Amino acid sequence: MRGAKTVAIRTAGFPQPAHHMSSFPERVFSGVQSTGNLHLGNYLGAIVKFVELQKTHDCLYCVVDLHAITVPQDPLTLRDNTREIAAAFIACGIDPKKNIVFNQSQVPEHAELAWVLNCIARIGWLNRMTQFKDKAGKDRENASIGLYDYPVLMAADILIYRATHVPVGEDQKQHLELARDIAQKFNNDFAESISRNGFGEAFFPLPEPLISGPATRVMSLRDGSKKMSKSDASEYSRINLSDDAEQIAQKIRKAKTDPEPLPSEEKGLEGRAEAANLVGIFAALSGREKTGVLAEYGGANFSTFKNALVDLAVEKLSPITAEMRKITANHDYIDTVLRDGAERARALANENMKAVKDIVGFLR
Ligand code: AMP
Ligand code: TRP
Repeated sequence: MRGAKTVAIRTAGFPQPAHHMSSFPERVFSGVQSTGNLHLGNYLGAIVKFVELQKTHDCLYCVVDLHAITVPQDPLTLRDNTREIAAAFIACGIDPKKNIVFNQSQVPEHAELAWVLNCIARIGWLNRMTQFKDKAGKDRENASIGLYDYPVLMAADILIYRATHVPVGEDQKQHLELARDIAQKFNNDFAESISRNGFGEAFFPLPEPLISGPATRVMSLRDGSKKMSKSDASEYSRINLSDDAEQIAQKIRKAKTDPEPLPSEEKGLEGRAEAANLVGIFAALSGREKTGVLAEYGGANFSTFKNALVDLAVEKLSPITAEMRKITANHDYIDTVLRDGAERARALANENMKAVKDIVGFLR
């Protein structure tokens, strides 16, 4: 963090006496999986926030390829998908010189810390994770151990940098709560050793999720009850960051709506998931709140509103798409950015891993 801003550590539930408060320099970490079809939900729910936070914070933005292989991936596609996400970060305005942009598998400390945290996290905690239940589906016995352990690796991603703030979409809230629980239990279990090794009251900060704005959960354009997702079989369910203007227009025009005109207040969106979703997308793309959008479009029918949304989406997304194509084509450039980022990330991760080894009692 530039300057000396710090964040007070919050301890789960109990008010702590002042001498139990520790503070950590602010640092932002977030990750996006290197699976294809980067979409408007990823952009509005996460990447827009990444871009904003780089103005005020030291940030690490990671393409999480170790997470991607929790479900089968084709090796050649995986490499290209990793490059595509990195290109998207840069095309959206993340400066890889000012921030650290890298892919997870180049920094082995993520997996190394994950093992230690595996011995901290409880099976009962992981059994509550709804994303695992959704992704594993009915055939849970046949899901990979990696898919089950996914949230522990995610906690390690954050904690290996002792990051304090994590911008994510709404769907990651539960995983962030787990990361806090793991950090808290590590701090408690090793309290004496943490203090003996000179780290004071707590080694890990309890990372804060940053989930805000009108588009923390962008829904499918085909079904307002399902979130927009990379794996949805229908291309019409999502707007990909690689879509051209014509595709964006077609998808918005075909988006499911209802027969009523738009309400003029947010309360009128209750029970109208598809309408609420389009208004949320409009608000987020234009940097406004839903209330403001409804004040302007209340009473309008969907064909009018969709036309305005098409114009807005094309205006905002087309330059990104063009830039992303250009960058994606230049493998050497992206690979260099990721290697450089990994080197800088590793310097930080390695320091913290050494501390963890001392705290846990490993010889080194
Ligand atoms: P993933 O592609 O699953 O790695 O997600 C990358 C980031 O995008 C995470 O912060 C997610 O929470 C966010 N995200 C994914 N899908 C959506 C969505 N439909 N709406 C809002 N945010 C999303
Ligand atoms: N699980 C996140 C997702 O699918 C991606 C992720 C992995 C992540 N590690 C992270 C996000 C650490 C924030 C912090 O969306």
